[in-house]
Amino acid sequence: MKDLSYRTPESYLEAKDYSLQNPESFWAEIAKNFEWYSPWNKVLKYDFLKPEIKWFLGGKLNITENCLDRHLITHPDQTAIIFEPNDPKDKAQYITYKELHSRVCQAANMLKANGAKKGDRICLYMPMVPELAIAVLACARIGAIHSAVFAGFSATALAARINDAECSIVLTADGGYRGNKTTPLKEITDEALAHCTSVKRTIVLQHTGLKVQWNKMDLWWHDEIAKVNDDCAAEIMDSEDPLFILYTSGSTGKPKGMVHTCGGYMVYTAYSFQNVFQYQKGDVYWCTADIGWITGHSYIVYGPLAVGATTLMFEGVPSYPDFGRFWEVCAKHKVNQFYTAPTAIRALQKHPVTLVDKHDLSSLKVLGSVGEPINEEAWHWYDDHVGKNNCPIVDTWWQTETGGILISSLAGVTPQKPTYATLPMPGIQAVLLDNEGNEIESSAEGILAIKYPWPSIARTIWGDHERYKNVYFSAYPGYYFPGDGALRDGDGNYRITGRVDDVVIVSGHNLGTAPIENALNEHQLVVESAVVGFPHDVKGNALHAFVITNAAIDNPDILVAELRELVAKTIGPIAKPDRIQVVSGLPKTRSGKIMRRILRKLAAREYDNLGDVSTLLNPEVIEEIKQNS
Ligand code: WT7
Repeated sequence: MKDLSYRTPESYLEAKDYSLQNPESFWAEIAKNFEWYSPWNKVLKYDFLKPEIKWFLGGKLNITENCLDRHLITHPDQTAIIFEPNDPKDKAQYITYKELHSRVCQAANMLKANGAKKGDRICLYMPMVPELAIAVLACARIGAIHSAVFAGFSATALAARINDAECSIVLTADGGYRGNKTTPLKEITDEALAHCTSVKRTIVLQHTGLKVQWNKMDLWWHDEIAKVNDDCAAEIMDSEDPLFILYTSGSTGKPKGMVHTCGGYMVYTAYSFQNVFQYQKGDVYWCTADIGWITGHSYIVYGPLAVGATTLMFEGVPSYPDFGRFWEVCAKHKVNQFYTAPTAIRALQKHPVTLVDKHDLSSLKVLGSVGEPINEEAWHWYDDHVGKNNCPIVDTWWQTETGGILISSLAGVTPQKPTYATLPMPGIQAVLLDNEGNEIESSAEGILAIKYPWPSIARTIWGDHERYKNVYFSAYPGYYFPGDGALRDGDGNYRITGRVDDVVIVSGHNLGTAPIENALNEHQLVVESAVVGFPHDVKGNALHAFVITNAAIDNPDILVAELRELVAKTIGPIAKPDRIQVVSGLPKTRSGKIMRRILRKLAAREYDNLGDVSTLLNPEVIEEIKQNS
């Protein structure tokens, strides 16, 4: 495959110009570098008002042919996946393209033997082991739609996702390791499946050796895989057939199953991967995300494999066995591109810098950041101590919904600016809007919006196109509205300032406040609650929950512990509020709407800056909240 990246500022500028003048030919030129069984007959059809977005219409492909088969001709023996286990005492694994192809085909046959076919939904609730990447690709091989659920989610959250997509098969493991903890994934799956009727089979990977309960529809992965060979022709997919569903939390109600399709997603993830990270043949690339999130889908599995890269998968955590683990792994595998989250950097920054310095990081060429705004201090620590002021840092802004990176510098090719994601990629038309939805020019602060589609935009919300329209295309008709605010400097660089809706990014995880409130309200003592984010030095944001109870509370500590547990059980431990405050009332407008703006200020303890509270229905609660916060 041709190198998709612009390696010089000139070629970048030329591409950018061309993409604005001729967006369709721009994307068609890029798409030509992939293997298609038959080409598209129309590049793009879209209507943001409807909304409807289709790319490479009529094109036929299978993304796994592009991620695997074609590399067998050029570099079958190159390592595709390096697997670094949780425990450094365990052996790393090196899986070549040839072996990966064979294992994916085998797993695909295992799925088929268990009744899976094109269009079926398959839930992956697995630890960060090679079999997870293999499962993703095996689904794609046969045209089944994978729905990966992060292995930190609770049984309730898992069940909700299985039910929403009506999955017929669940792939899981006995357990997964995270530092010195083991998560009983099979047990959690069993608990979830008690509330699901669509699932016909559970296939269980033996990984930790944890003892598991065995049910009628359970099968061991190793038994099933032993029954099949590795000969599996790829299913011919339409460009617009769904490739996967991935859930992301919304500001209201249940999680949104974002649907990504085959053709556009393939083209965009490969294009953005190669350009942003400036990956070169032979490099070792490591993204520390989990495949349960979009970052893992796009930039551990699909993007890197589509361009034939070597991608590293890590099962562990940055703090185990010590806070130098990331750097130890970088040194051990001579990592060239390293991609992580600001929250991890901030956590590591608190520990002695000798934990970084004692490892040889001379292989590093590019550093990346994703998931939330990176603050100045973290940026410089990353630059000084990890990059030794010698590695460009790409601050990549994007979302589950966008499928790939939309705003970022291209490492070493375009200028970086600390705390700024910088410029939209060629092919991305970003704008700033004022509250009325008018585009604002030059340097300003406003609402970020995108005014032209790109190939990897999610096409719908599974089973709820109306919600897709309402959330992303209705607030500012004619634009895609991501829900973030941004600042733009005189050179056109964007700095993302944070969410403008009721989503809070905690440790890089996107959490809607509504589902957390719903969980809190389940407690028999809670009548009403409101959850807001407040600045936190490691997590970026943490959650502050205000709860109104229906009786006097003798021991608030017990209630707080129960509420935290309830949230962990309903959503997952990542959603547990840092602070839970019992209050007698919430600040409300006369029409009864909770004033979240004021709650955010109270949670941030910005008391001087509350604005006019005299129009509230119950201004007296403000004093009370301040007093006992
Ligand atoms: C939200 C999307 C994209 C993969 C991980 C998160 C925030 C993401 C940045 C960045 C500032 C960022 C935004 C966005 N975000 N990257 N580089 N700078 N904010 O995916 O869970 O869908 O969350 O994460 O608020 O809307 P996600």
